[in-house]
Amino acid sequence: MPNAISGFSKLSKSEKIEWLLNTYFTDKDKAWTLVKQYWNTDNKLQKLHDEFIENTITNYYLPLGVAPNFSINNRLYTIPMAIEESSVVAAASKAAKFWKDRGGFKAEVISTEKIGQVHFTYNGNFEELNRFFETVKPKLISETQDITKNMQRRGGGILDIQLRNKSNALKNYYQLHATFETLDAMGANFINSCLEQFAKTFKAEAKTALVGDLDIVMCILSNYVPNCLVRAEVSCKVEDLKSKDISNPELFAKKFKQAVNIAEVEPYRAVTHNKGIMNGIDAVILATGNDFRAVEAGVHAYASKDGTYTSLTHCTIDNSIFKFWIEIPLALGTVGGLTSLHPLVKFSLELLENPTAKELMKIVAVAGLAQNFGALKSLTTTGIQEGHMKMHLMNILNQFEATSEEKTKLVEHFKTNTVTHSAVAEAIENIRG
Ligand code: MEV
Repeated sequence: MPNAISGFSKLSKSEKIEWLLNTYFTDKDKAWTLVKQYWNTDNKLQKLHDEFIENTITNYYLPLGVAPNFSINNRLYTIPMAIEESSVVAAASKAAKFWKDRGGFKAEVISTEKIGQVHFTYNGNFEELNRFFETVKPKLISETQDITKNMQRRGGGILDIQLRNKSNALKNYYQLHATFETLDAMGANFINSCLEQFAKTFKAEAKTALVGDLDIVMCILSNYVPNCLVRAEVSCKVEDLKSKDISNPELFAKKFKQAVNIAEVEPYRAVTHNKGIMNGIDAVILATGNDFRAVEAGVHAYASKDGTYTSLTHCTIDNSIFKFWIEIPLALGTVGGLTSLHPLVKFSLELLENPTAKELMKIVAVAGLAQNFGALKSLTTTGIQEGHMKMHLMNILNQFEATSEEKTKLVEHFKTNTVTHSAVAEAIENIRG
């Protein structure tokens, strides 16, 4: 077991790597070469990445792919996606093309409210606390003026602050529950700064105005944003679902709807169903420099808002019209954070024609819906493995260090043969004699 190290963050980058190599690696040269191989030759660009986090030693690549032909509200988009899973971009592109020829995706932002809370304890009387809160509320807002004036000028800011009594759930626990409009910013820094100022003012005023003890526990935004909602939808006549892969559209629509209904009632299936949705969502979130952990947490909380974890998408067939839609909370930003720093994030946003946060919400929701459509279409027809393994073929070939010539031959071979790890191994062996 290695010894603990103190002052690691103060070491230089090479000293950190040196320590890692000496402590953990048998083949130090190999590890060192690898770490260096991923450094960018442009020192300025490398420094930018080094400074995103602490203790950066190198860069970790993910492919940035694009899915073209997304018609959203009659406007065409090419959607950037950063993801490692082989079949995701291909499935998105396929779904985009399928729906472009059937009216495209329709999307609308329902609401854009963000939330933050000051969590505190108070050991006195609630009525007294409530009276104090009502008196001090204007001051809570006015003392954040320096933080909020720019946001306010653009039309955003603090929407409201409420006092919430949580003492039934936890002794002496109360909240300032605040709502915000943060426009094109995701708003985490703005919200947290406002909350910390609320807490300072609240605590200072409480000292003279309240008899009981009031203690601030913490101030933090919530990633649960059930009132920052977007909806995306596709629909067409059932008969229009007919395509190269769908010979019987009535049967397809029926089975597809059953698959959605299963995810609506069965949490084990719902989790995987929603994971597939998040394949599309996270990929766009990452490419556009947003916080995928925040989105994941908020989306899954929303999926269980009625007490049981359920599907984020829904489907109906009424009067021979097939309708498939998603409604999800997405707190996104197209300004601030990484958006003006990471060169590929800037590239991705330009590719999307520099969307507002609301436009990005629609694009991301559509990416999630498209991904789910692709997954359910495969699952209810050919099964998932056919397409998945086709896309995974290149990874297997790379594991066997196949040459370009071998790859060309084997890709051709597996157009008409089932891809499995052992089938690929056997085919390679045959080629190599
Ligand atoms: C794999 O990453 C995602 C799927 O499992 C989603 C689903 O089952 O709906 C294919």
